[in-house]
Amino acid sequence: MEIKAIRGFNDILPNEIGKWQFVEESAREVFEGFGFSEIRIPIIERTELFSRGIGEATDIVEKEMYTFTDRSGNSLTLRPEATASMARAYLEHQIYSFDPVAKLYCIGPMFRYERPQKGRYRQFYQIDAEVFGVENPMVDAEVIIMLIHFLKRVGLEKLELQINTLGCRDCRPRYREELRKFLATKSFQLCEDCQRRLQTNPLRILDCKVESCQEAIADAPKVIDFIDGECQKHFDKVKAYLEMAGLSYILNPRMVRGLDYYTRTAFEVVSYQLGSQNAVTGGGRYDNLFQEIGGLDVPGIGFAIGMERLISLLPKEKEFIRYPHLFIAALGEEAYREAYRLVNQLHLEGIRAELDYEAKSLKSQMRRADKLKVQYVLILGEEEMKRGKAALRNMTDKFQEEILINNLLETLKSKIVFD
Ligand code: HAM
Repeated sequence: MEIKAIRGFNDILPNEIGKWQFVEESAREVFEGFGFSEIRIPIIERTELFSRGIGEATDIVEKEMYTFTDRSGNSLTLRPEATASMARAYLEHQIYSFDPVAKLYCIGPMFRYERPQKGRYRQFYQIDAEVFGVENPMVDAEVIIMLIHFLKRVGLEKLELQINTLGCRDCRPRYREELRKFLATKSFQLCEDCQRRLQTNPLRILDCKVESCQEAIADAPKVIDFIDGECQKHFDKVKAYLEMAGLSYILNPRMVRGLDYYTRTAFEVVSYQLGSQNAVTGGGRYDNLFQEIGGLDVPGIGFAIGMERLISLLPKEKEFIRYPHLFIAALGEEAYREAYRLVNQLHLEGIRAELDYEAKSLKSQMRRADKLKVQYVLILGEEEMKRGKAALRNMTDKFQEEILINNLLETLKSKIVFD
């Protein structure tokens, strides 16, 4: 039987890779311009990093983690997200001892056992940026400004920035209790999972997509009405800084995000072009995460962009594929040898040159050049070669001219449009 990839795990093929490289390069450029440095963290961590960091009573930890026992009996998990790992690395390597403020980003695959559908996969890529060590709301706005700048830079439009505040350790318990009381009166409307969540984690009910649960939460109390003065002040400042930067946003009092570590600012960027999985980015502040994973009291804020979703939104008209610049068509054995010599020389100069590896007719070589969408074809005939010449054909306007083989490199450099 033919072996296929696992459901929810995708190959990213050569004809798509240009978009991925473009997005990654743009992220590196924009983020580093904002003072962020790249960090690479392992794909596998101890399970408790995620169960404590993300929260035991979240969908991710309850039912979506790829967890297994290794040969030494350790419980390990394929990372479902990067924030907890980045926080662990910051603590483990005492990055704070150099400067308590760390601005870090990472790019890579995450794993969640979710039901695959368009825009939702079991292996998916995130671009994740985090700032550790700053409590000031200036930073909340700064990461959002960077995010929006990046999304615009790669060509995304018609996006909506939604923000909310989730309060803190001091004020949220009161909200949770009010919400629980309210939802208890509607428990008959709640799905089986939410009946359970009512006891374990009522906030998660606000995320439930089941219609009857959505109806049950329609008039539920809102976090914003329960936050304390400090959280309110923080939120007001975030909004003011966003306005100062000219960014518009929508207040979404129902957004609670799917991970338990959030405190205060939470945000998402959604695109109405995406259908049901419409969040391109999710993020927020998490001032207790470091303590949850056994570390110091360090505040943090950041976001993660879903790369598959982002890439599906890139402008269609932009060209991302890197076609060869030149095809060398050779006629006769000697010309074929010369073509091979030239191709190797041109590669060293950064010119993408191709030839046929089997001697074929001129017609067949031209057909292949056409298929490869090259800019130019160099036709090497034995007679012309004896005079040190060859024909260079522009594949766009079909104009053909004779050139000196000795001048090939300079001629090509003056004609090729480099991407
Ligand atoms: P998240 O909302 O779980 O947050 O994921 C962030 C983004 O990853 C989503 O908005 C979505 O674009 C993408 N994503 C999530 N799950 C899938 C999936 N199964 N298939 C495809 N794309 C997916 C986090 O992961 C937090 N760590 C974000 C964060 C960073 N908060 C603070 N810092």
